[in-house]
Amino acid sequence: MIDNSYYNNSKLLLETSEVEAGNVAWRSPSNIALIKYWGKHGHQLPRNPSISLTLQNAFTETLIEYAPKDQPSKEMEIEFLFHGEEKPLFAQKIKKYFTSILPIFPFLSQLKFRIQSANSFPHSSGIASSASAMSALALGLCSIEEILFGQTLDDIDFDRKTSYLARLGSGSACRSIYPGIASWGESAFIEDSSDYYATPITNIHELYSTFQDDIFIVSAKEKEVSSRAGHGLMEDNPYSKTRYAEAKKQMSKMLSVLKTGDLESFGTMVENEALTLHALMMSSNPSYLLLKPNTLEMIERIRQYRKETDHPLYFTLDAGPNLHLLYPQNIIHEVRVFTEEQLEPLCEDNLWINDFVGEGPIQL
Ligand code: DP6
Repeated sequence: MIDNSYYNNSKLLLETSEVEAGNVAWRSPSNIALIKYWGKHGHQLPRNPSISLTLQNAFTETLIEYAPKDQPSKEMEIEFLFHGEEKPLFAQKIKKYFTSILPIFPFLSQLKFRIQSANSFPHSSGIASSASAMSALALGLCSIEEILFGQTLDDIDFDRKTSYLARLGSGSACRSIYPGIASWGESAFIEDSSDYYATPITNIHELYSTFQDDIFIVSAKEKEVSSRAGHGLMEDNPYSKTRYAEAKKQMSKMLSVLKTGDLESFGTMVENEALTLHALMMSSNPSYLLLKPNTLEMIERIRQYRKETDHPLYFTLDAGPNLHLLYPQNIIHEVRVFTEEQLEPLCEDNLWINDFVGEGPIQL
């Protein structure tokens, strides 16, 4: 069951004889969290609020073709292709997702779908794609609803609904709906914040609107422990309560440094968050470790470079060994010399990607 009635405004079923086949396509970006979502409950609800930068270059493009089913059936009819190749396992996951959102979109069971998806970043770069993939899919579904039933939502509600649906696919995906900076999760410091959908954060210093995020691929292998399993392990983690309380407090501090442009405080918080995330993995039961020797070597080199130059560049980490380097655009040339000399050789196949704060999803 969907756990909130906010968008449970079940549309009528379709008169399928009147439905024409059609298609929609969206490009939606990935995001990198500054305050991490780690731990969830109920139906994809976060244990603490989080905040992230929406990226520009790391995105998923998803084309959804739909048509009325040939024969009525309860079974979801979904074909899924990733970079042009059939992926039956992913198709199963999408079927499960579509089934879970039937209370919101009953018409999904009346249509058949062919979904084609591709990422801008290399296949096996180890960059998590659930945020871009699930947000692109949710945007597509809301567009189809508009085509079939007419436009009933204003822009704010369209974004909220897509964010709500993206969350049900993958928590972090709900933040990718918004350009720039977005938060997710109820917070006393953010007006209209909700555990059900993300909220755009607009009151930010101009420094952050062009912030860079270089992503260094330390290992492209699939993670040994999925994020889903990692969230689950937080339930019995002895430090989880302290973590959730601390994250809630960090939100107010983060909002304040995003407003003032105090980069030093920003960096201290962002690095602490990244290391706390991994400390939580290490203190789970069973414990696990996703950092690799080269991740640690990169962290040391970044801190050393910062000490020597005073340049405001800071790392953050996802739930994996790859490292994100965050810095303002005005030092990009100096930073490039450092990263090419010191960080690139530590990457698998010398692979790294320059990204930056982005403009949010676009309909194609
Ligand atoms: C470490 O959103 O991938 O990236 O909701 O189970 O799909 P699910 O988890 P997911 O978790 C992301 C965790 C994180 C931190 C963050 O993005 O806030």
